Amino acid sequence: MKSDSAGLPNKTLSWKNYGKNTAHLCAMMCSNKTTIWSIGGDTISLDWTGDRNSIFKTLGASNHTDKGRELNDYYATEPFAIDVLCGVEKFAGTIWEPACGGGHLSERLKEFGYDVISTDLVDRGYGRGGVDFLASTTSLGDNIITNPPYKYALEFCEKALSLVDAGQKVAMFLKVQFLEGKKRKKFFKDTPPKTVYVSSSRLLCAKNGEFDLMRAGGGSAVAYAWYVWEKGYKGQTVIDWVN
Ligand SMILES: C[S@@+](CC[C@H](N)C(=O)[O-])C[C@H]1O[C@@H](n2cnc3c(N)ncnc32)[C@H](O)[C@@H]1O
Repeated sequence: MKSDSAGLPNKTLSWKNYGKNTAHLCAMMCSNKTTIWSIGGDTISLDWTGDRNSIFKTLGASNHTDKGRELNDYYATEPFAIDVLCGVEKFAGTIWEPACGGGHLSERLKEFGYDVISTDLVDRGYGRGGVDFLASTTSLGDNIITNPPYKYALEFCEKALSLVDAGQKVAMFLKVQFLEGKKRKKFFKDTPPKTVYVSSSRLLCAKNGEFDLMRAGGGSAVAYAWYVWEKGYKGQTVIDWVN
């Protein structure tokens, strides 16, 4: 068997066989140097600057390829994510969930005693459908909390911060990986979140709300965090660990 100079064998890896651990496996193999590696029978050169979009979508900002994504990005968040958030943050006044999907976050927020207004671009049988958050010009609530469509996550954060009043909060459920990226660096520098709460245990976002199917398939390989802004805050961002 051939091997590269680190002594690692050249062999064909299969996404199917290695499932969610594939990303970790590649990371271990390639951590010290750029190397020639074979993925799916296709020999390629890997490094950490990004040779192959599909690999970096897995390692990076997305846990699905664009092809496999649900139309309009409907991935329901397990309601326990709200327990995690409400364990560390309080919200003064009403809450707008502007991408409510099936209401998984909204319903749990209500159980915590909040007055919640729920809308979504798509009518998913919960809240008010047909409301494009990115086209909104006024806020329907004092605070905004959601897990936004990943494709427009930055736009959702920017829009939410433009809509709420000074001192009010925006909480976004996003991948830990959302911290990096040049466009986001500028955004974070200009409008720093007050706190980023990294979930130490994995929380699930299930396509079409099929949590059981996701658990049966091994759960999630994606690390999430709550990013919380208090509009007007200009200090350093605190990173905290929860859950
Ligand atoms: C990742 S899902 C999250 C659903 C819900 N927030 C949850 O956590 O369970 C994103 C949702 O955003 C909605 N969406 C996509 N683009 C939108 C837009 N421009 N305005 C409002 N909602 C949008 C999708 O229809 C989808 O229901």
